[in-house]
Amino acid sequence: MIIGVPKEIKNGETRVSLTPASVEALVESEHTVYIQENAGIKVGFGDELYQHAGAKIVNTAEEVYAKSEIVVKVKEPQPSEYEMLKPGQTLLTYLHLAVEPKLTEVLLKKKITAIAYETIQCADGRLPLLHPMSEIAGKMSVQIAAKLLENSEAGNGLLIGGVPGVAPAEVLIVGAGTVGLNAAKIASGVGAGVTILDISPEKLNIIDNIFNGRVKTAISNRYNLCKFAKSADVVVSAVLNPGAKAPKIITKDIEKTMKKGSVIIDVSIDQGGIVESINEPTSIERPYFIEHGVIHYAVPNIPALVGRTATVSLNNYSLPYIMKLADKGFIAAVKSTPEMYKGVNTYQGKLVNTDVAAALELPYTELSVLIGF
Ligand SMILES: NC(=O)c1ccc[n+]([C@@H]2O[C@H](COP(=O)([O-])OP(=O)(O)OC[C@H]3O[C@@H](n4cnc5c(N)ncnc54)[C@H](O)[C@@H]3O)[C@@H](O)[C@H]2O)c1
Repeated sequence: MIIGVPKEIKNGETRVSLTPASVEALVESEHTVYIQENAGIKVGFGDELYQHAGAKIVNTAEEVYAKSEIVVKVKEPQPSEYEMLKPGQTLLTYLHLAVEPKLTEVLLKKKITAIAYETIQCADGRLPLLHPMSEIAGKMSVQIAAKLLENSEAGNGLLIGGVPGVAPAEVLIVGAGTVGLNAAKIASGVGAGVTILDISPEKLNIIDNIFNGRVKTAISNRYNLCKFAKSADVVVSAVLNPGAKAPKIITKDIEKTMKKGSVIIDVSIDQGGIVESINEPTSIERPYFIEHGVIHYAVPNIPALVGRTATVSLNNYSLPYIMKLADKGFIAAVKSTPEMYKGVNTYQGKLVNTDVAAALELPYTELSVLIGF
């Protein structure tokens, strides 16, 4: 199989979809890998490392797309890449199509076989390819919030962990999945006061067992959001309903009760976010804006801030799927890997993920009908 790796071009992006180690493994399995020059330069993987691993370096993204049967990326194709996608090509990347109607149209029109990392889902509900980036985004959310609370930014001047005699910041985390758990680890680790909300009592149970009372838990509903947002210095949004748009549960009236100089980190922004006053993602270049005296941070690619860790961690989880796809071909790979079957979003011009179809109000087709399964 011919696999292509273009350089990532989303704002502030540093990650690359394959490490030299992954390239070596694919080449050993007799696949060809084309990689755009300098694709890994920002995370310390120079072209010579890729060449040594057996990749062929090409100068432009156009060449990568033109030569490849499977394009492996990190972030969703940007508008300048839409033209480059080759009809019938397979694309493997984070896609978040529920908030990408234009890209969805392109993928359908060009009959791209698009597999979204974030909708690859195991029978027990785990999202094995969202997990590594959510671990990082969760940990980073607190690091970022701590910085934004500083007076040198626009924050309220609180040291997140406090000092003896001065109370720490209060951190409210909404969603107790991977992002929420990892945010709680860092926030409680530095001594902040932490409360975590989820709609699932089972998730709160897990948190309670891990933190043994050091993190407060409460069920997520409007009553508790109003109650805890008022006293929070930091709110981390960590909600997900896989494939679907996030619910706008931090409404403007809740936000108006928040303290001046407090911070909202809307990690869920890649699925539209949970904050009513955040209509658009921010970017690594312009990461926040202030409204109602509250700092709003809504960067959709937080792991790009720690691209080396993120690239290696992503590859730890993604390579087995990429390898399976390359070794077996699309149909055999999805038939033999139920979680990859769930990752397919578009195939032969049809939308085959039910949550994405519902979010975009487009017709849905069951993939099994198309592949005879
Ligand atoms: N911005 C970034 O750079 C970045 C990076 C990684 C992940 N993410 C995003 O972060 C979000 C969370 O990811 P995750 O891996 O933690 O998901 P997850 O599935 O592990 O956890 C999501 C949690 O949200 C809970 N939930 C659903 N509705 C809720 C509600 N109304 N109130 C409270 N909790 C609710 C679920 O019960 C679940 O426990 C996703 O949208 C993901 O794509 C963003």
